[in-house]
Amino acid sequence: MGFFDSAQEVLDKGVSAAKGAVSGVAVEQQAFVKQFVRMCEDGWRQGWHERNGGNASYRMSPEDVQSCKGFFYDTPSSWVPLASPLINLAGEKFLVTAAGSFMRNVPLDPVSNIGIVELDDQGVAWRIVWGFKGGGVPTSELPSHLMVHAVRKDVTIGADRVLYHAHPDNVVAMTGVLSADARAFTRALWKAMTECIIAVPKGVAALPWMVPGGTDIARATADAMIGRSACVWAQHGMFASAPTFDEAFGIVHAVEKAAGVWLKAQATARTLGVEPIEIPDEGLRAIATTYNLPIDDSMLD
Ligand code: 13P
Ligand code: ZN
Repeated sequence: MGFFDSAQEVLDKGVSAAKGAVSGVAVEQQAFVKQFVRMCEDGWRQGWHERNGGNASYRMSPEDVQSCKGFFYDTPSSWVPLASPLINLAGEKFLVTAAGSFMRNVPLDPVSNIGIVELDDQGVAWRIVWGFKGGGVPTSELPSHLMVHAVRKDVTIGADRVLYHAHPDNVVAMTGVLSADARAFTRALWKAMTECIIAVPKGVAALPWMVPGGTDIARATADAMIGRSACVWAQHGMFASAPTFDEAFGIVHAVEKAAGVWLKAQATARTLGVEPIEIPDEGLRAIATTYNLPIDDSMLD
């Protein structure tokens, strides 16, 4: 049984009606929710979210949870087991987009298009505690979001909280030309545009095409993002992880722009019969020194 079937079956039995009057600042009005919604809207405006394409999640801080918990459902949904335990996420709460939701609709109706899920105190199951009004469930990429959160929480010592998955067209087009190799992608992107090495100093991971929405792509992405804050999914899109919404959006924005420049330069150079001109390796090293970047040196010759 797939994620959708099992989640829907359990959750149909579940979530109670919306709460009655509660005092405090409504969940939709909380600063972190507004920033989450803004990122969804910005991505839509960039053209990265056709139909229901893309999704996002945010690991809430204890302060976020404190200011929202009065609005949580009196009766949350039933628990849905995870494919494998995520012990370091035990008890964590995440704001997540809904499966099948359109990013363009998130700002118009947040409570139907996003929701909060919590993990149990063993890190073996999740349930809905707020949002997903009208019977929605978390994104089909929840396995990837949770597994990547688990890895990034560890390697950044709790700093990374935002995960953003988008379908930017230049990045996807690039995967039709370059094989899914971290070094090949990183070098092409870094060398196309000065700002890219600053946005992703550890480079980007790259995975070959895989079936979306499952635990295989989730495990592969989590492994690939141990040392990198971005991962390209061939013929699909990319994932970015960061401490803030600005940073997560900025990673996708910078990588997508560099991908577009790379594609244009390659195509034009071919048309003109010239070699594309790129930032040399010593130039990239000089940027790293100037901006004190913790770059992955194995990406350079
Ligand atoms: P969801 O609508 O389930 O979030 O799926 C969109 C997507 O981009 C899958 O990779
Ligand atoms: Zn996708």
